[in-house]
Amino acid sequence: TRTIYTAGRPPWYNSAGQQVEPFVIGICGGSASGKTTVATKIIESLDVPWVTLLSMDSFYKVLNEKQHDMAARNEYNFDHPDAFDFELLKTTLQRLKEGRMVEVPIYNFVTHSRESRTKTMYGANVIIFEGILTFYNVDVLKMCDMKVFVDTDADVRLARRLRRDISQRGRDLEGVLKQYSTMVQPAFYYYIAPFMVHADIIVPRGGENEVAIELIVQHVHTQLQLRGFKLREKLAHSYIGQPLP
Ligand code: C5P
Repeated sequence: TRTIYTAGRPPWYNSAGQQVEPFVIGICGGSASGKTTVATKIIESLDVPWVTLLSMDSFYKVLNEKQHDMAARNEYNFDHPDAFDFELLKTTLQRLKEGRMVEVPIYNFVTHSRESRTKTMYGANVIIFEGILTFYNVDVLKMCDMKVFVDTDADVRLARRLRRDISQRGRDLEGVLKQYSTMVQPAFYYYIAPFMVHADIIVPRGGENEVAIELIVQHVHTQLQLRGFKLREKLAHSYIGQPLP
């Protein structure tokens, strides 16, 4: 094993020399509810240099030919729990929590497939994990220190989804509406909305809710400090190098 003495290679240590486990925020919410915007705003406001953003999209299963044809006709259910590789997701999140390096698949929404390259991610002080089913799996739920549900009205979500899927994900109007009414909307009521009960905080309207974001950020700061983590001014001295996995 090599030992790299550089910033950005967690795990991190507090002043007592104990490893500081990353603080994991799980962000759940319907499609196009603003989960990524909330995550980005939290990252911008956090006074913490090393934050990792992990998305459930990375864990979509690889489709076989038949499923691929269904996806092309907007008939494959990407909103059902079976569409996700929860085992890979669990091990990835666990490794990140332990401060270890992971290779995360990169998902392409246009081709419905994983790209050949992967993204290397490291554990961090704060890990944000966002997706439509982040509260669905009990093991994943247990790994989250704070659970945030982004609650945005269905009409707003549908309007955003139409715009996004047509402009960025290579879809057409009819296809998006068909997928939405047959799969996206039903799955929301089966697999997303009922899991809101697990949320510690519910954010109405998503990313524009500055007060909610500020409250989340304050909580994260408090929790990190309780774990012995020093915020920015003293941070430069709070880490040491670790052998890479
Ligand atoms: O970014 P967002 O949370 O909306 O991404 C999840 C959505 O992506 C799901 O509602 C699913 O229907 C959609 N999806 C898709 N095509 C894929 C994979 C996911 O339309 N190939």
